[in-house]
Amino acid sequence: MDAFVIEGGRRLEGRLRVNGAKNAALPLMAAALLTDQPLTLRDIPPLADIRNMVALLGELGCSHEAPEDGVLRLQARDESKSHARYDIVRTMRAGICVLGPLLARRGEARVSLPGGCAIGDRPIDLHLRGLVALGATVFLKGGDIIAKAPRRRLKGGRVFLGGAFGSTVLGTANVMSAAALADGQTIIESAACEPEVVDLATMLNAMGANIRGAGSPRIIVEGVRDLRGIDHTVIPDRIEAGTLMCAAAITNGSLLLENCPLDALMAVSDRLEAAGVQMKALDRNGNPSSDPIPAGVDPMRVTVRVASERVLRPVEITTQPHPGFPTDLQAQLMALLTLAEGNSVITEKIFPERFLHVAELSRMGARLFRQGPTVIISGVRRLVGAPVMASDLRASASLVLAGLAAEGTTIVNRVYHLDRGYHKMEDRLASVGASVKRVDDKELAPQLVAAE
Ligand code: EPU
Repeated sequence: MDAFVIEGGRRLEGRLRVNGAKNAALPLMAAALLTDQPLTLRDIPPLADIRNMVALLGELGCSHEAPEDGVLRLQARDESKSHARYDIVRTMRAGICVLGPLLARRGEARVSLPGGCAIGDRPIDLHLRGLVALGATVFLKGGDIIAKAPRRRLKGGRVFLGGAFGSTVLGTANVMSAAALADGQTIIESAACEPEVVDLATMLNAMGANIRGAGSPRIIVEGVRDLRGIDHTVIPDRIEAGTLMCAAAITNGSLLLENCPLDALMAVSDRLEAAGVQMKALDRNGNPSSDPIPAGVDPMRVTVRVASERVLRPVEITTQPHPGFPTDLQAQLMALLTLAEGNSVITEKIFPERFLHVAELSRMGARLFRQGPTVIISGVRRLVGAPVMASDLRASASLVLAGLAAEGTTIVNRVYHLDRGYHKMEDRLASVGASVKRVDDKELAPQLVAAE
């Protein structure tokens, strides 16, 4: 298995472009099932989850081509198969987002229940509740969800998608995609407001759907008979951008981030600035602007300089559904705050068990005290490199950040988790001055390799 070897203590400086968003791309790709015409997606990041989704769509009758880097052309040529099997959905929970499109277009779907993952139970009751409100019958058989639409067509309805932890992002994507082809009007109340939902609605509308209100808690969909193929560019990845902001800050560095979706990162900028990180967007002429987002610049594709040159202040963070602070950046901010001067508090309200990084950061000298969904971070002056292991994507990113700042050598084991969400992170960080090398863990001394 691959591992990263990081020599910490180097200041990062340079320019990086933020890639297209994995979490936007996955439901957009599933939407290829809503039409038999070709869908061209641009700025698709070359990640393992994307490859898994291509394989899943292939099993569901979609052909794919990659005519150039970052471009993916999908076409549902054979609409006879509607079974998303366990061995693919198990490796990628986002496989669940084929459920709504399959059901809406083919009148039936059989999708394996994804099961839990390292960050929590990950139920899908809200997805199912939404599809039942559109007239589907849903039952479980052999670990699969079997959903059928009466007379092969869903019917618009009123759906409440709020749950104990807020709304559901992929559930909203599923119900909205299904409602796009349903008969009549659907109102989704307590819809997820995440930018990835907005990107999906934007693309579906360009395909001929009639969706209003995406980005707000109430989405209204007037169903249409057919959707057409189009060409769509995926929004930039707000979580990758936030991770790179933390990389600049934790190394007391200065990074110029291009294609940065600042408009989707207000809660993150707010917390970083409160901690003392400097953020300066560039105007259309490339000059630093006094506006958080300069006039005339696409707010989802800003060029911003993120820099820090001193010890950070402690802050309080509570993760919340968008536009609140994203759970997908909680672990990275925790790494940063281990080096702030004083006590920070992080409360996780979306996935209350998402703290796999806590024990590993502690091995690097961080002082962390967890009580239920809250962690107190008592800032230390330095982190010390160590062999560490994480078992989920964002926790791995947090350990890489800690390794960049730590004294000495950090070995981050099992970086396949990181590879699910960050393309060639080691090359990107090395291009701005970090010392990060990917190695096969067979090359490492046994005591540095994570045990099973
Ligand atoms: N929930 C339910 N019932 C449901 C669905 C969700 O109770 O039917 C709960 C979840 O257990 C959780 C909360 O609602 O407590 C939010 O879950 P959500 O459904 O919004 O998560 P998701 O759509 O499965 C996406 C991202 C995650 C991200 C979450 C929250 C993708 C592919 N995944 O998951 O991204 O953490 O939204 O923003 O879009 C990641 O990229 O590392 C990642 C895990």
